[in-house]
Amino acid sequence: MNDRKKYNILKFSSLDSTQTYLMSSDLSILPEWTVVLAHEQKKGRGQINNLWETEKGKNLTMSILLKPNFINISNQFLITQVLSLGIYDYLKKYIQDVSIKWPNDIYIGKKKICGILVNNKLQGEEFSYSICGIGLNVNQTTFSLAPNPTSIKIELGEDFDLLNVIYELLDYIFYRYNRLKIDTDIDYKKEYLSRLLNFNIWAKYLYEDKSVEAKIVDVNEYGYLKLLKRDKTIIEAELKKLKFSF
Ligand code: BTN
Repeated sequence: MNDRKKYNILKFSSLDSTQTYLMSSDLSILPEWTVVLAHEQKKGRGQINNLWETEKGKNLTMSILLKPNFINISNQFLITQVLSLGIYDYLKKYIQDVSIKWPNDIYIGKKKICGILVNNKLQGEEFSYSICGIGLNVNQTTFSLAPNPTSIKIELGEDFDLLNVIYELLDYIFYRYNRLKIDTDIDYKKEYLSRLLNFNIWAKYLYEDKSVEAKIVDVNEYGYLKLLKRDKTIIEAELKKLKFSF
């Protein structure tokens, strides 16, 4: 068994949000790889101010504290790549049709199984803290708010032990992150792109509320998605302006 002591696990039976908890903590006194877990999250936060739906005790809701001061501020998107690829690696071990929906949702086919929320804290020019929230649907089978959810149980028909999921998933992310520490030139972007839903294929999107047909071709260092349109012009899209159409 891998060494679980490298994680400083803080477990709570109920929290409004693991993300909010870490964001309002004194991060200077907490070690890197502090991991906040909640059995129940009452006000889980999603991207673009959405709520994150999760049934008590059924899913993984955690926030990890990283201190990536070895990464240049202009490369913040690397953290998103590390997390997405780590979760991708873990899920791929059990489930076939896994992909990353830009920027950092994890999908099974056309359904969302996991959401990631990254809040970075900068100190001057230094990239000092990254609070990485992960919501992975594990044993929940019915949802009321989420638009197109799935879970490990829905996909595989069996319950997974939450604690095993947590440690196994953490180990995949730890491995990816540590490789980055050792070799900051490591090219995760190529791999990230190759795992993207719709990468390099023509598909329909809503961009600034207009329908466009385009092909995902790249992502820039800020995480903006580059799409090639039929008329050969390039869109550089930020999250709020682009919607996938399924
Ligand atoms: C998304 O909208 O896709 C991101 C969802 C992120 C949810 C996780 S659950 C653990 C952590 N705490 C929160 O309040 N949000 C993140």
